[in-house]
Amino acid sequence: MADYESHDYDVIVIGAGGAGLRAAIEAKGRGLRTALICKSLLGKAHTVMAEGGIAAAMGNVHPEDNWQVHFRDTMRGGKMLNNWRMAQLHAQEAPDRVQELEAWGALFDRTDDGRILQRDFGGHRYARLAHVGDRTGLEMIRTLQQRAVALDIDVFMECKILRLLSDADGVVSGAMGYWRASGEIVVFSAKAVVIATGGVGKSWKYTSNSWECTGDGHAMALWAGADLIDMECVQFHPTGMVWPLSVRGLLVTEGVRGDGGVLRNSEQRRFMFDYVAEMFRAETADSEDEADRWYKDHSAGRRPPELLPRDEVARAINTEVKADRGSPHGGVFLDIASRRSAEYIRRRLPSMYHQFMELAGVDITAEAMEVGPTCHYMMGGVRVDADTAAATVPGLFVCGEAAGGMHGSNRLGGNSLSDLLVFGHRAGGGASDYAEGRGGTPVPNRAEIEHSVAEAMAPFERDEGENPYELHQQLQDTMQTLVGIIRTGDELEQALERVEELTFRSSRVAVAGGRAYNPAWNLATDLPAMLTVSKCVTLGARDRKESRGGHTREDYPSADPEFGKVNLVQRQPSGGGVGEEVKIGSEPIPEMPPELATLFEENH
Ligand code: FUM
Repeated sequence: MADYESHDYDVIVIGAGGAGLRAAIEAKGRGLRTALICKSLLGKAHTVMAEGGIAAAMGNVHPEDNWQVHFRDTMRGGKMLNNWRMAQLHAQEAPDRVQELEAWGALFDRTDDGRILQRDFGGHRYARLAHVGDRTGLEMIRTLQQRAVALDIDVFMECKILRLLSDADGVVSGAMGYWRASGEIVVFSAKAVVIATGGVGKSWKYTSNSWECTGDGHAMALWAGADLIDMECVQFHPTGMVWPLSVRGLLVTEGVRGDGGVLRNSEQRRFMFDYVAEMFRAETADSEDEADRWYKDHSAGRRPPELLPRDEVARAINTEVKADRGSPHGGVFLDIASRRSAEYIRRRLPSMYHQFMELAGVDITAEAMEVGPTCHYMMGGVRVDADTAAATVPGLFVCGEAAGGMHGSNRLGGNSLSDLLVFGHRAGGGASDYAEGRGGTPVPNRAEIEHSVAEAMAPFERDEGENPYELHQQLQDTMQTLVGIIRTGDELEQALERVEELTFRSSRVAVAGGRAYNPAWNLATDLPAMLTVSKCVTLGARDRKESRGGHTREDYPSADPEFGKVNLVQRQPSGGGVGEEVKIGSEPIPEMPPELATLFEENH
């Protein structure tokens, strides 16, 4: 039996985006031996792409805002599929987490009297996103990173984790992976493991997600015996770049609409007004400003229709494009130039200004942007306990985008940065409590290590076989065309067949060359997670025979109250791995206590 490089910790955190950093800070702050492991470089996390802000009911701009309103907005945005306890904790604790970030050195834009400025985003009743221009995620990562360095947390960079490991009793006890630089295997043993690996977008062709978002954490948790919930709920952000093709999908922050940008079709019409209530259409005045005022008055103080929740805006754009009212490159127009001064745009949206100027040669202070939906966020994920972030297998904790429940079937913009602070903090605490209570030294099962190593090395053993790039491209085509923004039962069955076939072919992947920085091999080791997640998304989408939030079925166009009472739960009963059987069933969503349920009554 080979000897591998090995490390022993109380808590290991896999993923160094906002959630992972916050979890590691918590565990280390509690005095535990803590490691933070990331497959990229520290600071290069996908969190930096959450541009517009952190949602927190601080009431700095609208004093009438409070956690109850934020809670209600979040639940309504998620079409009530959310884990209510997570949504409650999130709304209650987000302001403290933002203030903590400020105390650790984060810079924010300011109100005239010096408080943290908050901006409008879709689905939020009040302007509540704490922000720094359109670079909020970057500021958050910088601040958390600085904190982690100050605490002297051990960081393992460019270390790709492939599998969780358990002990003889089936308790999660570590993880194995390899160094990207050398290809050498590394094994971690730990009393508690936190997964904070982020999203899954790289299984779709057009995505705002960066290369890291391959669903590793979702898949590894499933393989280790954890439950996944509501994997069909994938968010398509309404505004990604559509042109040039090389950057199609790149995020155009909702902050553009939050700061006054409007959507127009090829007829220059603000088409979002066509998608609000019939009553509104009947009474719309002919000037845009009057229409804006009318809408605010008649929508209980909510924002203009461009700031409806993301699922609704994305579907409207999709409909306009399908009806041949799109922009030249297959999107619609996002116009802030005619609504705000050039100085305002450059100050509030510096990254957007730069992004469009550099990549598309478009000056957004003078011209409209072309935008369209892009795969952005996974609402589904590992089932966790709201208070501790514990998964359904002992020893495992999950936070951030890899955890399910918090956002129901559709996430409100800005709720992701607050989610990762609130539940990163809680996961770090939950894992620390667990590690402190676990006696002895965890011993990962040797057979699991050997099996995982053999699985990882198999592509080098074959002289010829499938090309990982080709499989990835075919997977992206499949998910984009058959499991996209609008779904049908027939297409989902086709998608399942294709994913099964690709999974079979992936068992014959071959790569050439050595192990050091071998991108083909790296991709080959990403494929099992991407294929597993794609299968779970497709199974969930097939079985949720209704439309709700980010999940739209053309053949079941309405929400079904019965489906609104259940999570779709997936697990692997007889051994975890890509290609192994996945069981799916529905389980009731825990009932909301009366004191929260009253918040949805009419007088609130
Ligand atoms: O549009 C944005 O700035 C993205 C933020 C988010 O997804 O929360």
